[in-house]
Amino acid sequence: MTSRAAWGIDDDMPLLKSALDAAAIEWRELAWDDDLDDEAWASCALSVVRSTWDYHRRLDDFLAWIDRVDRLSVLANSVAVLRWNTDKHYLVEAEVAGLPIVPTVFVEPSGDDSWIARVDHLLESGHVVVKPCVSAGSNDTERHDESASAIEQVRGLLATGRAAMVQPYLSRVDSDDETGLVFMGGSFSHAFAKGPLLSAPKDVAGDLFARERIDPRVPSAAELSVGERAMAWLGRRFGTLLYARIDLLPTDRGPVIVELELTEPSLFLAMHPDAPSNIARAIGAALSAR
Ligand SMILES: Nc1ncnc2c1ncn2[C@@H]1O[C@H](COP(=O)(O)OP(=O)(O)O)[C@@H](O)[C@H]1O
Ligand SMILES: [Mg+2]
Repeated sequence: MTSRAAWGIDDDMPLLKSALDAAAIEWRELAWDDDLDDEAWASCALSVVRSTWDYHRRLDDFLAWIDRVDRLSVLANSVAVLRWNTDKHYLVEAEVAGLPIVPTVFVEPSGDDSWIARVDHLLESGHVVVKPCVSAGSNDTERHDESASAIEQVRGLLATGRAAMVQPYLSRVDSDDETGLVFMGGSFSHAFAKGPLLSAPKDVAGDLFARERIDPRVPSAAELSVGERAMAWLGRRFGTLLYARIDLLPTDRGPVIVELELTEPSLFLAMHPDAPSNIARAIGAALSAR
C-alpha cells in the first residue's frame, strides 16, 4: 500500500504491478490514509507496506493503523518489525550486536546537557549531521559546520518532544556515494548507489522526500558482508523479512550502517533487471507461508 501523498510518484509501483501480473498474483493499490473500511483490508490476503512516506508526520496514527490492518489481513513486514524500525534508536541495538554503524550521539528530550560537549568533540574533525530519531526522506536532516547551529537544531527537535541524533558527517560519501543493499524474502536481490544528499542544498520533491541521484551498483565484498550479517541478525530476531534495505556509508575503515530500512523503503526496482521478479517471488512465498 501507498499513501495519498505518494499516489502516482512511487517509481517502484508500476514495476511491482507488472511483476505481480506476470506471476499471476492479484493486487490492489490502497492508500493507508484513505479511511477505507475494514472490508477493504480484510479482502487482502497480504498487505505490503510500500510508499507510506508521510508516516513519520503522524506516527501514532500510522502505528494504530498497522495494528488494525494486522488484525484484518497479514501485514508484511510485520507489526513488530515496523514498530521497531520507525525509530532509529535501533542502531544502538545493531551496534551491541556487533554491526558497524555510523558513530551516533543520541539526545533525549528528558536528558541532561552532556551531549553538547560530545557535539563539540565531533565538530573538531569536520561537519556534523543532526536528524530526528523518527524521520524519513531526509526530513529535518541537516549538516552543520559549527556548534551553535547544530545545538539550535537539536534544541528545536527536543522542544517538540522529539529525540535527536548527532553524527559526524562521513565525507567519503561525497566521492563514493551511499550503497543500498536490497533483500527480498531474506535473500540479496540487488544494490544501488545513492549520491550524497547533504553536500549541496536539498532539492525537496513536493515536500515528501529529498530528490536523490540513484545509479545501479555492484556492491563490494565488504558491503555485502555487512548486509548479510545484518540480515542474519534481523532474521534471528524477526523471522524472514519480505523486504529489507540496508543503507551503508563508506568510511576509511569500511562500510557502516546509516539506516536499516524495513518500513517503507524505495526498493529501486529499476536498478536491476531481476529486482521486480525477485519481489514478486518473495510476495508469492509470503502468501504461501500464511
Ligand atoms: N552521518 C552522515 N554522513 C554523511 N551523510 C549523511 C549522514 N547521515 C545522513 N546523511 C545523508 O542524509 C541522507 C538521509 O539520512 P538518513 O539517515 O538515511 O535518513 P532518512 O531516514 O531520512 O533516509 C542520507 O541518505 C545521506 O545522504
Ligand atoms: Mg536514508
